[in-house]
Amino acid sequence: MERKRFTNKTAIVTGAGQGIGYEMAKSLVLEGASVILNDVDLALSEKAAKEISQFGVCLPFAGDVADPNFNKDMVEFAIAQTNSLDIIMANAGITLFGSFLDYKPEDFFRVLHVNMGGAFFLAQVAGKYFIANNKRGSILFTSSVIGHQAHKDLAAYGMTKVAVEMLAKHLVLELSPYGINVNAVAPGATLTERTLEDPEYVSAWSKITPIGAPAKTPDIANAALFLVSDEAKHITGQTIVVDGGWTSVSPAPF
Ligand SMILES: NC(=O)c1ccc[n+]([C@@H]2O[C@H](COP(=O)([O-])OP(=O)(O)OC[C@H]3O[C@@H](n4cnc5c(N)ncnc54)[C@H](O)[C@@H]3O)[C@@H](O)[C@H]2O)c1
Repeated sequence: MERKRFTNKTAIVTGAGQGIGYEMAKSLVLEGASVILNDVDLALSEKAAKEISQFGVCLPFAGDVADPNFNKDMVEFAIAQTNSLDIIMANAGITLFGSFLDYKPEDFFRVLHVNMGGAFFLAQVAGKYFIANNKRGSILFTSSVIGHQAHKDLAAYGMTKVAVEMLAKHLVLELSPYGINVNAVAPGATLTERTLEDPEYVSAWSKITPIGAPAKTPDIANAALFLVSDEAKHITGQTIVVDGGWTSVSPAPF
């Protein structure tokens, strides 16, 4: 039976021009939500929203989630367009590889501003709206297995992913009294346009993933949609790791 868990709900999904965010946005629209689809790349956000619009309401809103003012504008846009806001998926994240000893300050701060700032300030402005409007909203952050297990050349990225999981726990204290839940999904190796640029990606991660293959984007979106659905209203401050078992053993791909 076709499920429609998000009818009459509005969701913002960031970093959704491609990859995991795109799948989250599409899955939400297929289940009845109106989605504001964000990407820093204007052309990509418009293309993605147009494709998803064949299934329902999906509006592009391009811009950089590292800018707190942009997050405020995006929430105001969602409310102006749909008269509501119920779900936040702060998914945008960048992976800038580099050895710790040579890592440049500009790369470090860019990773922090996008991965942590993008989650923190979108949750802040959405949280204020939820409280002012008596909405039992849901907030979801996209973490990573690299917030659980060290990986070559990803020290800064790993820090940011632990940070968003801890942010979810802290927001339990501040937002639970209003019925707002906050969780994270932590993908393992996942097939996306970006990861598939590496021709070795599938074979390398298939060998070391206990379940035998990297995730596909619906594997991540399925967990994400559960966490923002009414079925998960009593779950808050938690992270679901979707990694085919990798963090149970965590062998490195090279
Ligand atoms: N793909 C994986 O294997 C994997 C594994 C673990 C965690 N993750 C996490 O999942 C999330 C999505 O990963 P992905 O591989 O699908 O992403 P991706 O690298 O393909 O990026 C998705 C989109 O985000 C956009 N984006 C980048 N910076 C942005 C910004 N500042 N503001 C708005 N949009 C921005 C990009 O333009 C891109 O279209 C990220 O947080 C990532 O860290 C991915």
